[in-house]
Amino acid sequence: MFVMTAEKTLRFPEQFLWGTATSPTQVEGHVNNEWTPFVAQDGGHCRIACDHYHRYPEDIDWMRQLGVNAYRFGIEWSRLQSAPFAPLNQAELARYVDLLDRLLAAGITPMVVLHHFANPPWINAAGGWTNKATIKAFVDYVRQLVAALKERVYLWNTFNEPDTYACVAYLLGGFPPQHKWQLGQFRRVIDHMARAHVRASRIIRREGNAGRKPEVGIAKNWTFFHAYQKYSLWDRSTAFACHYTFNKFVLDAFLGGRRKRASTFIGLNYYGRVRFHHFCAMIPASGTPVKRLRDFGFVCDDMVERYPEGMEKILRYLHRKFNLPIYITEHGAASNDESFRARDLRQNLTALHRSISAGTNVRGFFYWSLLDNFEWQFGYTKKFGLLAVNFNDPQLPRSPKPLAAVYSSICRQNAVPQENAKDTCLKPGCT
Ligand code: FCB
Repeated sequence: MFVMTAEKTLRFPEQFLWGTATSPTQVEGHVNNEWTPFVAQDGGHCRIACDHYHRYPEDIDWMRQLGVNAYRFGIEWSRLQSAPFAPLNQAELARYVDLLDRLLAAGITPMVVLHHFANPPWINAAGGWTNKATIKAFVDYVRQLVAALKERVYLWNTFNEPDTYACVAYLLGGFPPQHKWQLGQFRRVIDHMARAHVRASRIIRREGNAGRKPEVGIAKNWTFFHAYQKYSLWDRSTAFACHYTFNKFVLDAFLGGRRKRASTFIGLNYYGRVRFHHFCAMIPASGTPVKRLRDFGFVCDDMVERYPEGMEKILRYLHRKFNLPIYITEHGAASNDESFRARDLRQNLTALHRSISAGTNVRGFFYWSLLDNFEWQFGYTKKFGLLAVNFNDPQLPRSPKPLAAVYSSICRQNAVPQENAKDTCLKPGCT
C-alpha cells in the first residue's frame, strides 16, 4: 500500500468537475417502470424512494452546501413518453427543466444520463432491449429530448453500465425481467444498446449546444476479475470468462473500430474487484459476509472487494486503448463505517491523481451517491450516500454523514487536502 506524506497536497486540474450522482429509479420515487412492482431482498421497493421527484430543490441545496460543481442524474424515459414516438410529456419535461435551471443557478454542471437500468412499460412489454425495434424508439426519444434540453445540457451519458444491466437482468436474474443464463439475450441487449448509443451520440453531437461543444459517452462499469489462488486453473478460467464477457466484449461493442468515433468521452464507473475461489465470487454482494471475507484478507465494502490500485490500472488501460477524455461517472462505497469510506475515497482519489499526473485526461469525478437510496435488488440496506435519509420518517429528512465533510473539503479545495492525506491502508488495524 502507498504512503502519502503529510506535506503532500494532491491538486487536481483547473476546471475539474467534482460531482455526485443518482439515478431516477433509485431516488425519485413515483416511477412507472419495471421496478415499480419489484420487491427487493429487504422487502423494500422504489415507489417513494427518496422522493427526489418532489424534493429536488432541497437536494440541490444540499449539493450547494457540499460544494460540488457537477451532478450526474438520469431522466426517466417512462415519464416523458407514453408510447413509441409519442411527443414528450410537457409537464414532466418542465419539471426536469426546472431541476436543470436550479442546478445551473447554483453553479452545478449537469451530466444527463439517458438510460439507467429502466425502461417505459411499453418497451418492456415488447421485449425491452432484446427487441431491435427498441433502438428506433430510443433514438426518437433522444432526438426530442436533446432538442428540448440542448440549451441547458452539454454533458450526455447515453447508457449507464450496459454490461451490468444485461448481465443482472439476463444472466443472473437479479433485475427485471429476471431471466437466468440467457447468453443470447445478453449479447442481443448489448448489441442493440451499442447501436442505439452510436445513433443517439450522433444526434447529440449534431444538435446539442449549451454554449459549449456537446460531450457524449457511455458509463462503463469496470470490475477486475481475478482468481483468489493464482494456480487455480478453474478460478482463472472463470475470471477470464467474466473479464471477456463483461469488459472486453462490451467495450468492443460500444467503442470498437469505427464506433469509437461516436463517443467524445468514456465514463468509467469503478468500484473494485471480484476474486473467485472454487467458482464462488468472493464478494458481499454474492452473499459472503464481510467478516468472513476479512478472514481471507479481503478488504470489502458491503458490495465488492476494494482495489484502489485498480483505479490507476484501468485508467491507464482506457487512456492507451482509446485516447479519449474520461469522467469517473461513479465511485463510492457502501458501509456504515464512515472512516472506512473516507479512507477508501482518499485511496481511490490518490490513484486517480497518479493517473492524471501520468497524462490521463480525466475531467471529473462523481461520487455515488448523493443520498442513501434504493439499491436495486438489495433495497435500502446498502448505504452509499453522502447524506443519510431517514426512511422511517414520512418527511424523509436528509442529514449529512461524516463523509460529506470529507468530500466537501476535497471539492472546495480541488485537492486531497494535507490534513486528510495521512492514511495509507484500508486493512483493519491500519488506521
Ligand atoms: C452501479 C449503478 C448504480 C448503483 C451503484 C452502487 O453499478 O450504476 O445505480 O447501483 O452501482
